[in-house]
Amino acid sequence: MGLDQPPVVRVSVPREGRAEKLPLRQWPMTVPAVEHVVRRGLDLAPGVTFLVGENGSGKSTIVEAVAEAYGLSPEGGTRNSRHSTRVTESPLGAALTLQRGIGSGRWGFFLRAETMHGWYTHQEQHGGPPLHEMSHGESFLEVLRTRFDSPGFYCLDEPEAALSFSSTLALVSALAEVVAKGGQVLCATHSPVLAAMPGATVLEVGPWGLRRTTWEDLELVEHWRRYLADPGRYLRHVLD
Ligand SMILES: Nc1ncnc2c1ncn2[C@@H]1O[C@H](COP(=O)(O)OP(=O)(O)OP(=O)(O)O)[C@@H](O)[C@H]1O
Ligand SMILES: [Mg+2]
Repeated sequence: MGLDQPPVVRVSVPREGRAEKLPLRQWPMTVPAVEHVVRRGLDLAPGVTFLVGENGSGKSTIVEAVAEAYGLSPEGGTRNSRHSTRVTESPLGAALTLQRGIGSGRWGFFLRAETMHGWYTHQEQHGGPPLHEMSHGESFLEVLRTRFDSPGFYCLDEPEAALSFSSTLALVSALAEVVAKGGQVLCATHSPVLAAMPGATVLEVGPWGLRRTTWEDLELVEHWRRYLADPGRYLRHVLD
């Protein structure tokens, strides 16, 4: 899809062999956002790109596949900490090719709430900090502090899940640090706090595929605004 700035990461699926690897009427091609990426590719602008959209719209499928195509373990962690408990990723990751600008480092990290426990165990076994002894959010912040420090390519899937409001702001600051050092981030999120990060590209994921939008125009932001102003307007619909 056409973004204004030159891409730093170009994600695409070569036409050759595409139909065999990703049959049209089978998952994940049945997910509109996946079909969009497969047909049109995805150019990630410099800095941070957020994927925002409803549950089941395809954010994780895309982030996971991009992480895998970059050589990151689908279960989370760095390139050199590959560990695997169960293979659940889609054939999309194997079909994608990923080009990253010349001169950009090879470092990367995939942070995902669901499977970080496995990575923590792996780290502890290899002399890392006692991440299992920390709370969910504390361990996340420790990972941010120690791993989000170089100009790599970071894939994140709902990193806010573990974080309080103020820790989510700390995450914005960590991401800004990554960007200032020349790194790049692809992040799926439901957090209006995260998605408000200045300078970030916001892609809304849904039945249309992927479309570029702004924080102000996100449905998510509109819902939060209205909910915080008057929770009853929403709650009376679900509590009757
Ligand atoms: N292994 C799988 N096999 C078949 N379908 C799957 C598989 N994994 C996910 N799906 C389906 O693919 C669609 C996209 O799922 P995905 O996890 O990418 O959504 P998401 O946007 O990350 O949602 P959420 O916000 O809930 O995390 C969903 O309809 C889901 O049920
Ligand atoms: Mg998801």
